Amino acid sequence: MATALVTGASRGIGRAVAQAFARRGDRVAVHFGRDRDAAERTLASLDGDGHALVGGDLGDPAGAQAVVDAAAEALGSIGILVNNAAVAPSAANAHRVDGVSFEDWQRAWADMVAVNLLGSSNVTMLVAQRMIAQGEGGAIVNLGSRGAFRGERDHPAYAATKAGLQAFGQSMALVLAPYGISVASVAPGMIATERQASKLEGVGGDDIRGQSPFDRVGTPEEVADAVAYLTSPGAVWTSGAVLDLNGASYFR
Ligand SMILES: NC(=O)c1ccc[n+]([C@@H]2O[C@H](COP(=O)([O-])OP(=O)(O)OC[C@H]3O[C@@H](n4cnc5c(N)ncnc54)[C@H](OP(=O)(O)O)[C@@H]3O)[C@@H](O)[C@H]2O)c1
Repeated sequence: MATALVTGASRGIGRAVAQAFARRGDRVAVHFGRDRDAAERTLASLDGDGHALVGGDLGDPAGAQAVVDAAAEALGSIGILVNNAAVAPSAANAHRVDGVSFEDWQRAWADMVAVNLLGSSNVTMLVAQRMIAQGEGGAIVNLGSRGAFRGERDHPAYAATKAGLQAFGQSMALVLAPYGISVASVAPGMIATERQASKLEGVGGDDIRGQSPFDRVGTPEEVADAVAYLTSPGAVWTSGAVLDLNGASYFR
């Protein structure tokens, strides 16, 4: 049985990861940003007991510190970290270079860098130091994206932060290996979370499904299964990997 902090577990992929961890007997700190009610629903859905709810804005370094402290206090240790929370692409934060104001461009970059890259790096640093002090190894998984390789026309800041996060994970894999801590990333293509529901309706949805020869998009559970494997004791040799989870929709 392990202890795990899953950031952004109030919904979507983070919720599925928390559920997969709880199913195998882990105790989970379910982190949320703003949506406490949704995180309560995640918590209520988890198998077993000893789980905890931890809220905080990861775009703020003090928030990241408070989240890690609260998770460690509630669980007694942190053996697994999943950096899942992110400011993800939406119509509201689109910033295509040929159709955006400089003001909106700056806002999108600032928000995405603050959470996706700096927030994840701050949480990783604080958790890694705890794992080193605990002396029992550990596993860290970052939620990257296919967009880091394929590009994102409407959300270049998102693609850049995910590429940065994946590269950051590889630097951490190098330095944390001597402590028995593995660090890997997953790079999902389109996954059918609630957030993506509107994009998957109608003809546009058919086009997105058609990008994969399976003619569908992935599920949060498929991503969670991969994260569960990457954080299992037998997966330490995957450290440094960036695992594509895109249904053969993009080869790099
Ligand atoms: N779904 C996809 O198609 C897809 C594809 C590739 C990669 N990914 C990656 O997979 C991860 C999860 O995706 P998803 O679709 O499940 O995302 P989502 O539904 O948008 O959920 C995002 C999570 O991040 C949290 N969050 C956002 N901003 C935050 C902040 N400032 N501080 C703390 N928490 C914050 C949210 O918390 P609250 O709601 O509580 O505020 C929420 O729990 C993300 O890293 C995303 O980039 C997703």
